[in-house]
Amino acid sequence: MSKKVLVLTGSPRKGGNSDLMADAFIKGARAAGHTITKYEAGLKKINGCKACNRCYSKGAACVFEDDFNTLAPLMEQSDILVLATPMYWFSFPAQLKAALDKMYALLIGGRQSRIKESILLACAETEEEADFDGLVKTYELIASYQKWMDLAHLLIPSVAEKGDILHTDALKKAEELGLSVR
Ligand SMILES: Cc1cc2nc3c(=O)[nH]c(=O)nc-3n(C[C@H](O)[C@H](O)[C@H](O)COP(=O)(O)O)c2cc1C
Repeated sequence: MSKKVLVLTGSPRKGGNSDLMADAFIKGARAAGHTITKYEAGLKKINGCKACNRCYSKGAACVFEDDFNTLAPLMEQSDILVLATPMYWFSFPAQLKAALDKMYALLIGGRQSRIKESILLACAETEEEADFDGLVKTYELIASYQKWMDLAHLLIPSVAEKGDILHTDALKKAEELGLSVR
């Protein structure tokens, strides 16, 4: 069955390691027949949630107009959410975290998101798999709270500079993961 897949990227580096992972995943998922939207949260202007609870009261998701208002409809209409991100300080980059924080609007606004499944693609400079624990736990708790079925984690250590990921098997794995989406 063809699904709508929203790939939310977290890096401000276009062509960086996680961006290449996202593109490899997208290549596979497209070949599997899915419809993909890539949303580069790291390149957008999304401010932190102000907890005003006035979400959707003026039509758009957030009363403080920023790029989240173009992301919210995609969140409402997608079946699968893929987070493709570098790890920053053992967690999500602020730009991506701001987008995730503002998902709050969909709860407050009583909007039904179609998202039922999620995937985490993450990379970092560390050589230690355990350094991903905080990021992964946060992702898992969000997925569980949102009742998304966690389909997979792809965690790639030891990549720092742009292009380092080309010397690993991460892109092959990301493409295979995309291809495996049913
Ligand atoms: C602000 C900042 C914080 C970072 N924090 C971590 C970290 O906590 N652990 C780590 O292993 N790498 C950390 N890194 C390194 C990145 O995760 C790494 O360079 C990654 O490959 C960047 O991916 P990108 O090319 O997709 O942006 C950090 C990089 C930046 C710029």
